[in-house]
Amino acid sequence: MSGRIPREFIDDLLVRVDIVDLIDSHLPLKKAGSNFVARCPFHSEKTPSFSVNRAKQFFHCFGCGASGNAIGFLMDFSHLDFVEAVEDLAAFAGISVPKETYEYRTESNRENLGGLYLVSEQVATFYNEQLKSHPGRATANAYLNMRGVSDEVVRDFLLGYAPDEWSLLSNRFDQKSLVDVGLLGKNDAGRVYDRFRGRIMFPIRDKRARVIGFGGRVLDDSLPKYLNSPETVLFHKGKEVYGLYELLQKNPKPKRVLVVEGYMDVIALAQFGIHYAVATLGTAVTQTHLDLLFRYSAELIFCFDGDSAGQAAAWRALSSVFPSLKDGRQIRIMLLPQNHDPDSLIREQGLDIFIERMQTAQALSDYFFEHFSRDLKLSEIEGRANLKKEAEVYLKQLPIGAFREMMFEELSRLSRRHIVDNEAVDVYKKSPKMRRQRNDRLSLPSSVMALLVQNPRLIEVVERKKIDWNYLEFEGIEKFTEILNVVLKDRPANHGILLELYRGHIDELVIKKLASWDLLIPEEGVEKEFSDALDKLLAQARTTGLEKLLAKEKINGLDSEEKELLRKMLANK
Ligand code: CTP
Ligand code: MN
Repeated sequence: MSGRIPREFIDDLLVRVDIVDLIDSHLPLKKAGSNFVARCPFHSEKTPSFSVNRAKQFFHCFGCGASGNAIGFLMDFSHLDFVEAVEDLAAFAGISVPKETYEYRTESNRENLGGLYLVSEQVATFYNEQLKSHPGRATANAYLNMRGVSDEVVRDFLLGYAPDEWSLLSNRFDQKSLVDVGLLGKNDAGRVYDRFRGRIMFPIRDKRARVIGFGGRVLDDSLPKYLNSPETVLFHKGKEVYGLYELLQKNPKPKRVLVVEGYMDVIALAQFGIHYAVATLGTAVTQTHLDLLFRYSAELIFCFDGDSAGQAAAWRALSSVFPSLKDGRQIRIMLLPQNHDPDSLIREQGLDIFIERMQTAQALSDYFFEHFSRDLKLSEIEGRANLKKEAEVYLKQLPIGAFREMMFEELSRLSRRHIVDNEAVDVYKKSPKMRRQRNDRLSLPSSVMALLVQNPRLIEVVERKKIDWNYLEFEGIEKFTEILNVVLKDRPANHGILLELYRGHIDELVIKKLASWDLLIPEEGVEKEFSDALDKLLAQARTTGLEKLLAKEKINGLDSEEKELLRKMLANK
């Protein structure tokens, strides 16, 4: 949830905008019963399984499982982050995100952020100019030559040279800003000095072309080989990748993105024509990296050195990717020959061989199962049991969808046992398509919850019944009362707004699942259906609660509070 844009503004926006109009303006919809449908924009298909519901203010694809409200649609469809999507939606509604809705502090931060971006940009340009003008430039140019770096790449990536001096920057640029962006260090005596000295400079730019940080490489074998900007207000290592801006300049919608480890790798690949490589900044791949990159491309290829450190890094990276693997997204693993990185390999073997290697990179699924099969003896029952146990931990993190199902099938084939992925079975059985086929029905508590989640206004019915939840017992009651409390407190006007309250919440998926069930009840009948189902649920829940209490009385005895409760319940019957 965003702390910057006030909740009321977002709620109001979601009331004003009709999700059907919004989506229709991006993707023509056709009316089909009470829904609007189209071919899904998030996976390729021949017949439409993407459906938008006006009453719920919710979209859902039965094919790939994509779902969400108007903000979620814009984030996925237009590759926007949350704030950008809200801004876009506001623009669609013809209103602007009002300035005073940003907190005052943020507003003042914004002003000096501008100063920080400016000084970073100025310094990047300054370092770049030093390659042409500084008296000591020869060593830097000789180094770039030795590494085979072309002038074109120097220009495109705004590479530079930080001369070997202690106070070039502080005399030229605003000192406070320089400190704030980490370009100056301070010694014990409080004196400032240039952080980067005698290094080739790699400015790191965000997707909007703003310089947010730097990496600097020494010109020889001295250590540390690389120095990076520290964490600053502009620069967060775990969130940024090197080369994204330059990549988007060449191609805003790349078919694939190659994820490598080093600065030199990105620029060498670009020089040889692979303009779609980015580097994590000396850190392991994070979830945030993935979410960022998947906004631009559905296929990521992770490239690792072939040595054991590279293999270990590959496996580490995998453990964080599973939750991001929605259907339609693909990850492949490319392991390089020993003692090579992409820079050295493409220079030695050329573009064609590199591309060939990339094309034969292993699919994540293969890599995943091979990894286990290598370490575990699958010929033995113990090995297979371990496979099931260890692999399931990963597979359970996959979002519900066809890919997840196939991974579980493969696991069950490999362990030659029937492993049931309960969660997925649940969702598939209960998705409307399957429901119609199997004539399967939702459990009573699930239908009551689904009705409420889809029609939060039904909270009035719940209030009228003045329910004491204390002595009730049914499956999922904790979740039920949690959701109830959210609806009671925030009073969302429709499902889309309720869903917004759950953005990033651990139960977001639960809420989406509940919203996806088509309960096939005409609008006029919803309230009565809900009221009846709730009565039935309450009656059952009372009986179960009572039985439990009576059983406890027999076996363990009751404390005074429980006795009082029992008296009340028996009186209520
Ligand atoms: N790195 C870092 N700090 C270091 C070493 C490495 O931040 N002391 C990061 C840099 O982003 C570097 C990446 O890890 O680009 C990969 O490191 P390495 O493979 O050692 O460097 P290369 O990029 O291959 O550089 P070179 O070819 O010049 O050795
Ligand atoms: Mn290298």
